[in-house]
Amino acid sequence: MPRHLTSLYDLTPDELQALLATAADLKSKYKAGDRPQLLPGRVLAQLFEKPSLRTRNSFEAAIVNLGGSGIFLTTAEAGLNGRESLKDVATVLSSFSDVITMRTFSQQLIDQFAKFSSCPVINALSDERHPCQALTDLLTIQETRGELQGAHLVFVGDGNNVAMSLAIAAAMTDMKFTLAVPSGYEMPADFLSDLTTRYPKADVHQVSDPKQAVASADFVYTDVWASMGQEEEQKLREKAFAEYQVNSAVMQQANKDALFMHCLPAHRGEEVTADVIDATDSVVWDEAENRLHAQKALLEFLMAKK
Ligand code: CP
Ligand code: NVA
Repeated sequence: MPRHLTSLYDLTPDELQALLATAADLKSKYKAGDRPQLLPGRVLAQLFEKPSLRTRNSFEAAIVNLGGSGIFLTTAEAGLNGRESLKDVATVLSSFSDVITMRTFSQQLIDQFAKFSSCPVINALSDERHPCQALTDLLTIQETRGELQGAHLVFVGDGNNVAMSLAIAAAMTDMKFTLAVPSGYEMPADFLSDLTTRYPKADVHQVSDPKQAVASADFVYTDVWASMGQEEEQKLREKAFAEYQVNSAVMQQANKDALFMHCLPAHRGEEVTADVIDATDSVVWDEAENRLHAQKALLEFLMAKK
């Protein structure tokens, strides 16, 4: 049975730490001009039903850096719009791929696909999870702070795919995670009860006041108010999240050396102001670059287990 990454729960905390160490090592090698050919000839297939700049292209760069190559197809091109069954597509595509990334609306589609796939399947974002984003964020926090344990990560905004994956990541690495969120947009209760069943010591909180939430923040994180697929809720969400913008007044409430984080794409003037995202204490470009290094480690980890 191949190993998958449909969610961070597919890793143990020790595997996650080892993966981050490999990512840091591959990054320093990359900076020194060394691109170890760990996966020569391997094929990465990418199956996306939503747009992507960072995820798609950093995965393709990662497999090429490692000595392999990538192919890309939309889920519609793959025939997942009714041309062929999910089982047949998964069986065929995995028969000539070594690893598959999938970006979908439904998390269930990725979970099902993984069951039928003979090679590892990686969640490249669903409506519910974004584990690869959490990996790059852990790497970024680790390299800026030195260690993950004890860090307080405060997410201001929607209890969405990114927020939920960061909550899981925090629980797995002994970080504190607080979501400042308006009523009606919290992380679902069943998600939180599952998280605390799996990780009883999870230090994960939801509050409504963003300024109170960031009072002891080492990292202040935000994401768009309307995720992909929620475009028609944009106006409604602009109203609901109006008090949840990360601006300099919010950053001033955080710890003195707090850093700003965002998965990108960002909407300046909505969830974050330009002076915050473009300041020197913003690590958003490191998060984006670290996609490459974290995913190289992930590809190597999953394919080594094949
Ligand atoms: N952060 C992120 O996943 O970006 P893309 O949607 O561009 O892949
Ligand atoms: N929550 C956002 C993340 C984009 C990387 C979305 O799903 O659109």
